[in-house]
Amino acid sequence: MRFGHFDDSAREYVITTPNTPYPWINYLGSENFFSLISHQAGGYSFYRDARMRRLTRYRYNNIPTDAGGRYFYIHEDGDVWTPTFLPVKRELDAYECRHGLGYTRIRGERGGLSAELLAFVPLGADAEVHQVTLTNHSERTRSFTLFSFLEWCLWEAQDDAANYQRNLSIGEVEVKGSAIYHKTEYRERRDHYAVYAVNAPVAGFDTDRETFVGLYNSLAEPQAVVAGASRNSIASGWYPIASHSLAVTLEPGESTKYVFTLGYLENPKSEKWSSPGRLNTARAEELLARFATSEQVDASLAELRTYWSGLLSNYVLESADEKLNRMVNVWNPYQCMVTFNLSRSASYFETGIGRGMGFRDSNQDLLGFVHLVPERARQRIMDIAATQFPDGSAYHQYQPMTKRGNNEIGSGFNDDPLWLILGVAAYVKETGDFGILDEQVPFDNDPANAASLFEHLRRSFYHVVENLGPHGLPLIGRADWNDCLNLNCFSETPGESFQTTANREGRTAESIFIGGMFVFIGPEFVELARRRGLADEADAAAVHIDTMRATVLEHGWDGDWFLRAYDFFGDKVGSHENTDGQIFIEPQGFCVMAGIGVEDGRAVRALDSVKERLDTEHGIVLLNPAYQEYHVELGEVSSYPPGYKENAGIFCHNNPWVVIAETVVGRGERAFEYYKKIAPAYREDISDVHRLEPYVYAQMIAGKDAVRHGEAKNSWLTGTAAWNFVAASQYLLGVRPSYDGLLVDPCLGPELPDFTVTRVCRGATYVISVKNSGGKGARLTVDGVPVDGTLVPYAPAGSVVNVSCDV
Ligand code: GLC
Ligand code: GLC
Repeated sequence: MRFGHFDDSAREYVITTPNTPYPWINYLGSENFFSLISHQAGGYSFYRDARMRRLTRYRYNNIPTDAGGRYFYIHEDGDVWTPTFLPVKRELDAYECRHGLGYTRIRGERGGLSAELLAFVPLGADAEVHQVTLTNHSERTRSFTLFSFLEWCLWEAQDDAANYQRNLSIGEVEVKGSAIYHKTEYRERRDHYAVYAVNAPVAGFDTDRETFVGLYNSLAEPQAVVAGASRNSIASGWYPIASHSLAVTLEPGESTKYVFTLGYLENPKSEKWSSPGRLNTARAEELLARFATSEQVDASLAELRTYWSGLLSNYVLESADEKLNRMVNVWNPYQCMVTFNLSRSASYFETGIGRGMGFRDSNQDLLGFVHLVPERARQRIMDIAATQFPDGSAYHQYQPMTKRGNNEIGSGFNDDPLWLILGVAAYVKETGDFGILDEQVPFDNDPANAASLFEHLRRSFYHVVENLGPHGLPLIGRADWNDCLNLNCFSETPGESFQTTANREGRTAESIFIGGMFVFIGPEFVELARRRGLADEADAAAVHIDTMRATVLEHGWDGDWFLRAYDFFGDKVGSHENTDGQIFIEPQGFCVMAGIGVEDGRAVRALDSVKERLDTEHGIVLLNPAYQEYHVELGEVSSYPPGYKENAGIFCHNNPWVVIAETVVGRGERAFEYYKKIAPAYREDISDVHRLEPYVYAQMIAGKDAVRHGEAKNSWLTGTAAWNFVAASQYLLGVRPSYDGLLVDPCLGPELPDFTVTRVCRGATYVISVKNSGGKGARLTVDGVPVDGTLVPYAPAGSVVNVSCDV
């Protein structure tokens, strides 16, 4: 069952009923100002950091869900409704929501009156613009009042949700004409404020929530709206809001537009006040002047659309599979941009107060983003690397606002260092910017202790080499990619963090997964060293990789698949010797991606075990059998009920590793089959089961042991986005940048007999036409000349290279 459809030419998903199985959201903003917006206009805005600079308030855990947003009410002769359906929920004659790239339009119609909200964050502005278009489709003159509404958050979102004894006394606002200013704490240490304004004279306003809503009312029935008139309240403490009212009259067929702008501004300390106690609003006025007319708004939206068209032109697939086209060309890269910007901080599942930017997460996000805006990837690499410790380990997370490592979470996730090598390698391959390796980057944000980025990579590599356990496999530390495999934690205390607690000190627990990672990623370090003329160093590093490969085969093989780990006691995890958790997905994916066991058939055997034991109609589960009870020696993985999250959920992030691994052993058909099982566009028809947005990936789909098998959770912010983009664009379709050229090596089975990929890389355009019989091993001609192998050397910027590929 569906709740809408894709409009491919507009690059929009069109939701045709407010009653979706969950709020289906979009993100606005791609620079500093971000907003979440649901198909019913719920959500919130923040400046750069969802925790430290929250602008508007949203209520997680609320009943009903999706509470708090930018709302517009219409009151006409006692009839009160909201075109976005929520919060009033009065029946609409027509409803449509279009989520596009960086903008959302929601239109509702009732009794011949239609109201459309267009919301977006313009490029180059710290603002969310709301253009409201009101049209009278009826035969009579209509006079009504339009009310706006949003609620200010008192900046620090965690404190806002916790510290009522202080916060209920500090709220302050100022009103000037049609502009409502939020200036809580501006009197003391803050030098930022927010504004919500409309480009027309208002009939009235409210800034005090209780006055506007009524203490015992909900947002479905604000007393000012019900009465049809604002109360012109000025908030003093309690809950400051911003609401305007406008008197509107429309003749039959007439249409009018209003522009509301929510802006964030900073003043230098010396320019905070225009007169004692009066906010200096000059900067806000400049901002509002940029969106004072509908023509300005239209131009700004057009600019945003052009921007996205430009970004998406770097990888374009033309094929007979419209679902694959829309994933590869639009929605997957779009999600990659959002994950790059927000890491795991703010979604409808991540509250924006729990987590900053992840070291591991952000490095992986780069993989799907680097071809969109390489310069921003470069900056991100610098930020991430600066949170690395001198010994090569890393803060697991850092706050985007301060760019400092997060002490509460600390360090000790032993996979973290390797992801930096992978992220940097992806950047250098995309751009050819080897110079980044010479950049001086601090350790632990200490400018007095800086070294080249290459030195950071060296320490990453040797952090693994210097932290091996009894079998010569990498020590796992607090956890590896699987945050929930906590082999030194031994937690018996409810609520204790599995990730930061280490109740036992041990240097025994080892990760075969990190071993596979080391063999997959290590060669990038070797190659970069070689290209810096460090032949001896490269040779020495290569020996470590060879040793690790041999060690994984010797101590990491369980007979039919790769083991997952050795625990604190040296016992096997992910072995047929275990009762539950006999086989895990991660090492099968990464070890085969690394080529381990390809020569002697063990790679194929491991992947066949994945098919037999882990595959389901909704994707590949993380492990099997699911843990039935809590294992103190394994940690959080066994804490989840069977089938959810890391305990045998379909963790979509690692499914693409198996997709890639299948292409490594040349089984494209199976790879493509796995890809389609979790790709949202292919799941659109079962939206009633899947429940989340059919245009973006979710982190998890409940596994076969779960009560709700097939149901997704945690959409949007997940490494799934980057890895699936890599799997589809670089391995199935087979076009991937390397240091010297584009590799063209498709492997996706016979379903698509021909397709074309247009790839822009380092300023040149490659038009790659593929004739595909479903095998592996491409034969290429470049501008008509046959070449050996699968490498298309980089051409000068500006050139167009025609590649034909037979496979
Ligand atoms: C979450 C985390 C990611 C981790 C994964 C598996 O997606 O963000 O860092 O690798 O869970 O535990
Ligand atoms: C929990 C989640 C896991 C996530 C981690 C982040 O353990 O299950 O998916 O990566 O929290 O700290």
